[in-house]
Amino acid sequence: MTTIDLIIDFYKKAQRQGPGSKADTLRALSMVHLNSKKLKIADIGCGSGGQTITLAQHLEGDITAIDLFNGFLEEVNVRAKNLGLEHKIQTLQASMDQLPFEEASLDLIWSEGAIYNIGFEAGIKNWRNFLKPGAYLAVSEITWITSNRPSAIEDFWKKEYPAIDSASNKIRILENNGYTLTGYFYLPKGSWITEYYEPMAEQFDEFLERHHSSEDAQRIVREHQAEIELYQKYQDYYSYGFYVAQKV
Ligand SMILES: C[S@@+](CC[C@H](N)C(=O)[O-])C[C@H]1O[C@@H](n2cnc3c(N)ncnc32)[C@H](O)[C@@H]1O
Repeated sequence: MTTIDLIIDFYKKAQRQGPGSKADTLRALSMVHLNSKKLKIADIGCGSGGQTITLAQHLEGDITAIDLFNGFLEEVNVRAKNLGLEHKIQTLQASMDQLPFEEASLDLIWSEGAIYNIGFEAGIKNWRNFLKPGAYLAVSEITWITSNRPSAIEDFWKKEYPAIDSASNKIRILENNGYTLTGYFYLPKGSWITEYYEPMAEQFDEFLERHHSSEDAQRIVREHQAEIELYQKYQDYYSYGFYVAQKV
């Protein structure tokens, strides 16, 4: 099994592949004001579809759930079918920087915890082309939630994701690129701990057993344990900011 296959196996059955919750998705959705019954929606970097399902349950229209890895999309299809939502959700294996949508064809672009793969600014610029005038973008992105922080956590994130920034700077990037903000909040601690890290940690042993405690499997568990410890220690300084904006 390749490392990528192992990582997909590690995440696939989880409700989410990043911090977030149904309540967060609905809170962001309350900042989107669309009335049409035939919305065209893209959920980019959908993972196994936690937020895709919530969107399908609360919006009228077609959702294209996009991910780079088919393993996650298979799981989206199973979940959609089990809930009788398959008529609303179609899956598409594609890279988020090479999407096949027509210009000005979408009412809503959703992306939770995924835009970092191409970078916030590159992503919001690229995806804007696909939005109709007045259409919405809702993205969550790692964000500093204080103006000062210990150098250990600053150094860590600057190395992992140099584009990490404060909400005020992210909002400026949105405004400078043809969006107007309709709402912002950052994810509460429960969306990291209860919704994401606790269920993740509960399946460490099973994952190791499934893969006979291979070197690769042990490394994946160790890396995630370190990530959890980091969050426990520095949770007052960063979170995912949820940015909801409209194409000007
Ligand atoms: C942190 S996960 C978030 C998944 C889901 N939105 C959630 O919040 O639970 C990031 C997702 O982006 C996907 N991804 C990574 N690079 C991508 C790319 N270039 N194009 C499309 N999806 C990508 C990953 O496979 C993964 O499912």
